[in-house]
Amino acid sequence: MTDEKKTDAASPATPDKPQAPSPAPATTGTPAASPTPTPSPPGATAPKGAPAPPAASKPPAIPAKDTGPAKGTGPAKGSGPDKLLLTRRKAVWWSIFGVLTFWTGATVRFFFPRTLFEPKTRFKIGYAGDFGLGVDTKFQQAQRIWVVRDPGSIFVIYAKCTHLGCTPDWKESENKFKCPCHGSGFDTEGVNFEGPAPRPMDRAHVELDPEGQIVVDTARLFGPTEWKKTGTFIPV
Ligand code: FES
Repeated sequence: MTDEKKTDAASPATPDKPQAPSPAPATTGTPAASPTPTPSPPGATAPKGAPAPPAASKPPAIPAKDTGPAKGTGPAKGSGPDKLLLTRRKAVWWSIFGVLTFWTGATVRFFFPRTLFEPKTRFKIGYAGDFGLGVDTKFQQAQRIWVVRDPGSIFVIYAKCTHLGCTPDWKESENKFKCPCHGSGFDTEGVNFEGPAPRPMDRAHVELDPEGQIVVDTARLFGPTEWKKTGTFIPV
């Protein structure tokens, strides 16, 4: 009894099933493909000397869709760099606008003539009754004339020194015209009597308009040889 049990334990459990023959090593033809390394279970250690399995490469990362800054996480509108950029753009546009405006104005100005507005040479000075005896200087600044009334006439002296063209001053206390430039002196009729002035001052053309006002024309001047002519005085 004891021997039977021993025999059973030494024999294989399934003696009837024939064992599958192990594959024979290839001796001819192409070398056999190297066995595909099977992934070892986690925690298992590779046997010493065995080649290390190639590291599993990571799959390429797929770029995420650009959905813009998340709500509430981006910079606030009109602050920081955005505001600075906006200010710079405004400054650039204003500079361009200023330059264009300047050049437009300069171009427009170019097409208009540079005229010098001088006082009219023909103008009215009022009625004969507006002037008393003596020299009236109220038109000296505006028209460069003196209106002189004597007992028989009114005439107009053109206020220009016959030396070098300065405008003399009326010196009432001295009863004469005095040139400030070189000291020439003229009497109430405009005749030179001192200083370098070579001759009397000219008189302007005068006439009455239909209303009786005195009209002066400084474009028509008369020297002393013409002072008796019509148009050099108004008889009163
Ligand atoms: S300009 Fe009048 S005196 Fe010379």
